[in-house]
Amino acid sequence: MTQAMYEEGLAYAESNFKDEHAAHLHVDKKLIREKFNMDGKKVLDFGCGMGGMSLWYATNFKCQVLGIDIDRHHVKIANDLKDRHKVHNVNFEVRNVLDQPLDEKYDFIVLNDVAEHIHLPILKRIFQALSKNLANNGGIYVSYPPWRSPYASHVQHVVGIPWCQFLPEGVLLKMIEKNNRQIVGEEESDLLQAYKGLNHLTNSKLMNALEGSGLKPVYRKSHSFVNKFEPFKNANLRFFPLDFLVTKEFVLLEKAA
Ligand SMILES: C[S@@+](CC[C@H](N)C(=O)[O-])C[C@H]1O[C@@H](n2cnc3c(N)ncnc32)[C@H](O)[C@@H]1O
Repeated sequence: MTQAMYEEGLAYAESNFKDEHAAHLHVDKKLIREKFNMDGKKVLDFGCGMGGMSLWYATNFKCQVLGIDIDRHHVKIANDLKDRHKVHNVNFEVRNVLDQPLDEKYDFIVLNDVAEHIHLPILKRIFQALSKNLANNGGIYVSYPPWRSPYASHVQHVVGIPWCQFLPEGVLLKMIEKNNRQIVGEEESDLLQAYKGLNHLTNSKLMNALEGSGLKPVYRKSHSFVNKFEPFKNANLRFFPLDFLVTKEFVLLEKAA
């Protein structure tokens, strides 16, 4: 990783940690504050990336956090950010749970902007593995930008056109190639690779990925920018064609009885 990439990653993660209104994360932070109290809990931040949200959980709640990720570059930045801010109730590890299962149980397992980046057969195995690490009465919280959203699971940020995922694949690939650049990741080190790693996640694909895991959804919120307007404040726009306006899905999973 070059020094410039490192600094870009550190600044991005620091803003996700410190800035309550950071880009896409303010909705996640607000919902977590409203719905979940992590005080006294053991939290696993699965796919913690550069650690911005792990540090946010650790400093907003009296909890113990473990952040794990398969990408060494991301975990290096997460560890440096932890040291810079002297946060003691969080640890970070490079780990692939399919090769190195975790031993402990966690009350709260978070996959924030992670599930849409993992190929579906692997995601299925990961849910099976994580369900074994979920404490009784614990929950797995999955949040992701669904494929049909205007953000196109993040691709809109690359090409600048909402719903660009519905362009012909060849046209879209050319646009991404034109705007392609290196990114911090070791596993996905440019925007084109990151695009190719997306699994086009929808709620039904997520539900399929849960099969055989012993987990069931107990809560779902489909957030849209339309929720800013008073008449739609609490609306879940899940039905065609309004589902194309949903920018983030939040799902809470618990162990099936
Ligand atoms: C878009 S980032 C999100 C990072 C972080 N959760 C956040 O909200 O800032 C997705 C992360 O998932 C990680 N990831 C992908 N596949 C994974 C796997 N099988 N196990 C652990 N982490 C994984 C990637 O390395 C990347 O850091």
